[in-house]
Amino acid sequence: MVTTGQAGARAAARPAADLLHDARAHERAACIPEAIRCYDAAIATADRTGERTVLAEALRRVAVMRHLRNESTEARQLCRRSYSVACDAGNDLLAAEALNTLGGLDVQTGAIEDARRNFLQALARGGESRELRARVEQNLGIVANIQGNLDEAVAHYEGSLEAYRASNDEHGCAIAYANLGIAHTDLRQYERAEGYFQQSYEIAERAGDAHLQGQCLVNHAEVHVVRGRYEDARRNAEAALAIFDQLDARSDKSEAYRILGMVYRETGRAALAESRLRSAIELAVSAGSVLNEAEASCELALLYQAMGRNQEALTLLNAAHRLFRRLDARVDLVYVGGKVSELETTYFAVVLEWGQSIESTDSYTFGHCERVAQHAMAVARVLGLDETSQTTIRLGAYLHDLGKVRVPHEILNKPGPLTQDEFVVVQMHPIWGLELLAAVEFPWDLKPIIRWHHERYDGTGYPDRLRGDEIPIAAQIVGIVDVFDALSTARPYRPALSREAALAEIERSRGWWSEAVYLAFVKSLDGVKSPAHATLVAVS
Ligand SMILES: [Fe+2]
Ligand SMILES: [Fe+2]
Repeated sequence: MVTTGQAGARAAARPAADLLHDARAHERAACIPEAIRCYDAAIATADRTGERTVLAEALRRVAVMRHLRNESTEARQLCRRSYSVACDAGNDLLAAEALNTLGGLDVQTGAIEDARRNFLQALARGGESRELRARVEQNLGIVANIQGNLDEAVAHYEGSLEAYRASNDEHGCAIAYANLGIAHTDLRQYERAEGYFQQSYEIAERAGDAHLQGQCLVNHAEVHVVRGRYEDARRNAEAALAIFDQLDARSDKSEAYRILGMVYRETGRAALAESRLRSAIELAVSAGSVLNEAEASCELALLYQAMGRNQEALTLLNAAHRLFRRLDARVDLVYVGGKVSELETTYFAVVLEWGQSIESTDSYTFGHCERVAQHAMAVARVLGLDETSQTTIRLGAYLHDLGKVRVPHEILNKPGPLTQDEFVVVQMHPIWGLELLAAVEFPWDLKPIIRWHHERYDGTGYPDRLRGDEIPIAAQIVGIVDVFDALSTARPYRPALSREAALAEIERSRGWWSEAVYLAFVKSLDGVKSPAHATLVAVS
């Protein structure tokens, strides 16, 4: 306290504007404690002398410093004070600057709507200044991006670009071009994206901004991969890697490795692809980049899927799912919802493919998994189950008969009733399914469906002879739909039953499921079509 007071007393002899100037010099030299001391001195002096312009400016700048020291509440207060001082002084530009900074603090603390409001107000107040408009539009673009509004993001980045151009700020233009490139990539407008990356790269090269050059290369490489130009992608990614290596930018290196892994995967060099993608994950972990770790995990999962290593693919997708859920839009400036839904699409595809790989090994009608999944979700909806339960039921339905891979082919395809011994083998499939999945953790609880889809409410099912509500509702739903689908498709010794006949069979067995599940099933039939064609089906 005493020291600060003395420093303040000594500094008081100097004009506030000089102190502000010194503070900025300290800030540029990254001497944060000195910078804060000078800003505080400038504030004290300007407060006394009534120099409101200096005061507003110093308050805003020290707010940013405080924020960097994790003192967000103080930072916000300083910013608000800067705003009101600027308003009193009738200085629109400084008022707008304060609002822009306030919006920046909001983004960093996750208050995205507040940020948007502050940025828009900043634009209304100080948009006359091109320099300010360029930065505020850029920020509005970032906010739109975090909220998943890509078209709006593009409009703001374009506004920013125009303002940077008008103020002859070439480096600003380069940043706007890079952001436009990324947004157009997300919009799948690759031609335009490439043009922007190229323009950004050229400026970055002239300005000697190595980091931006590397980012342009790596982002452009990603577009090359999507467009199937693997050699261009590889060249770009390797050039980016060389740059990031020099800068020791591990998180960026992780991205370059990810692209290389994708290139090798798509060109059939699986071992190289695996090694590059593993490196991408390791680098992301060591740099603490959740986004890069999740994205590299997804790409490695796709490699494993292509190699038929479904268990490993799902383990990675599960890890990626957890990471995306943990992802912080504030830090990574991405739309988390978009990332999660993209991942879930991949997840469903891998699980369905795994389920279908069983369909093709036995004589099940192709499409059994998908039909059971769709119908089971319809029953779940009638019962009013939530989205997560519906997803669980869908994935559980895809994999319900996974354990049948271990049932000998001649039993699965036997064109007639099974012997007692054969039936004992078939009854093992729920347990074998669980064994196959033992190493895989799922974001959804699929295992009860796989283990208990043949249990019956009256206690006559298998493998655990559960009774009544001991059987999870998800397993009952998949169970009833599974029986119905088996009845509705042909067997070697009888044709497919009509919908009415199948329903009559189910009604005769209604004691196998709870009343609620049975009634929901009957109701769901209104919205479900009969199988389009019927082929062979083995024991269900
Ligand atoms: Fe089954
Ligand atoms: Fe089945």
